[in-house]
Amino acid sequence: MNPIKDKRITLGVTGSIACYKAADLASKLTQAGALVDVILTESATYFVQPITFQSVTGRKAFVDKDMWSDQGHVQHIGLGHNTNLVVLAPLTANTMAKLAHGIADNLLTVTALAATCPVLIAPAMDGGMYTHPATQTNLQVLKGRGAVVIGPESGRFASGMVGLGRMSEPPVILGHIRHTLAQGGPLAGKKVVVTAGGTREPLDPVRFLTNRSSGKQGYALAQAALDLGATVTLVSTPTGLPLPHGAEVIQVDTADDMLAAVLAQTADADVLLMAAAVADFKAAAVSDHKIKKSDKVASLKLTRAPDILMAVGERKQQTGYPRLTVGFAAESENLLENAAAKLAAKSLDLITANDITAPDAGFSVETNRVTLLYPDGRQEKLPLQDKAEVAEQILDRVIQLMTNKDD
Ligand code: CTP
Repeated sequence: MNPIKDKRITLGVTGSIACYKAADLASKLTQAGALVDVILTESATYFVQPITFQSVTGRKAFVDKDMWSDQGHVQHIGLGHNTNLVVLAPLTANTMAKLAHGIADNLLTVTALAATCPVLIAPAMDGGMYTHPATQTNLQVLKGRGAVVIGPESGRFASGMVGLGRMSEPPVILGHIRHTLAQGGPLAGKKVVVTAGGTREPLDPVRFLTNRSSGKQGYALAQAALDLGATVTLVSTPTGLPLPHGAEVIQVDTADDMLAAVLAQTADADVLLMAAAVADFKAAAVSDHKIKKSDKVASLKLTRAPDILMAVGERKQQTGYPRLTVGFAAESENLLENAAAKLAAKSLDLITANDITAPDAGFSVETNRVTLLYPDGRQEKLPLQDKAEVAEQILDRVIQLMTNKDD
């Protein structure tokens, strides 16, 4: 499950033109199920009003005068202690300096000082303020205390100058928040390798053979493993999908590239989730030059591409790694018989079978309807679900299988 759901997040907003992006961040966090308490510094209120945040979070947004409200001076202690995460975005050079020195002269800095949870900061400042030695020293102090620093990015400032200091975009900050909140989950300390996308087998410098895999199910599996606190390596062909934040990504093209990456990465891995659609055949010879019409090529000579799961299975027999292997069978006929045969042939712990002829399941679409098959003959049919939900279910079964192995 998305680790942001039901978490209390304190979003501190300080006086930068990037304040408008903080409203978008508050909205995205709320949509992801978080309870967001926004605290604005006085300078932030010159850029954006509390009502903007209240409208997107459905909760009160706090300003300095709330320190002296009916709840009196305990307001900041309540906010600081009851939160799962403090996010300071945008964080100005001024508030960064205050935090580095433990200065607590407004509701936000007092709350940050009282907080015992992880702190994420997304600096935003114009001109040369970010590279100034004073700011850099303050940043090092905060990093040394464990703050997660997001950005800043290079680009054009409001002043017209160009340089390093633009606040990272809300989706990037959201990725860091999700990753931070997932730490310590049930797969903490476990290495999960996921493959995704369709391999591309070159014919010449311009053309390749590929398949209809979108990579969506593989990326959803990588995200689900990250959400459970795993260390994730994603071995992916080019898919154009946004990369799941926190995963180590290894880009590959061909089945041979993927074989090399998977064997290297699974030598010490706990789990391999082999969701990629790997070519079974490749060109017997790749032309160095673009094949021309005048070459009169009437047929292609193909040869077998490596079977990655087969190779992983053989290595697993010798070394015991990866400890658990999950395969995916995309079938257009005899779904369960074919999937069961692959489960046995490739020494898998679990295979996910899906019927690619169904219009609402399989390649490119957002949903999938799969049956899980186990080596003991058990079969489990899952309903039509989002690929993200299918991924969560598969990871749930992976945790069960790991627990059985550990017992
Ligand atoms: N697979 C693999 N290497 C290949 C082909 C497939 O590792 N060269 C993996 C896939 O990633 C998947 C599983 O094997 O997890 C089943 O893939 P699938 O294409 O359904 O089966 P194949 O073994 O290729 O058999 P066939 O194409 O004959 O159905």
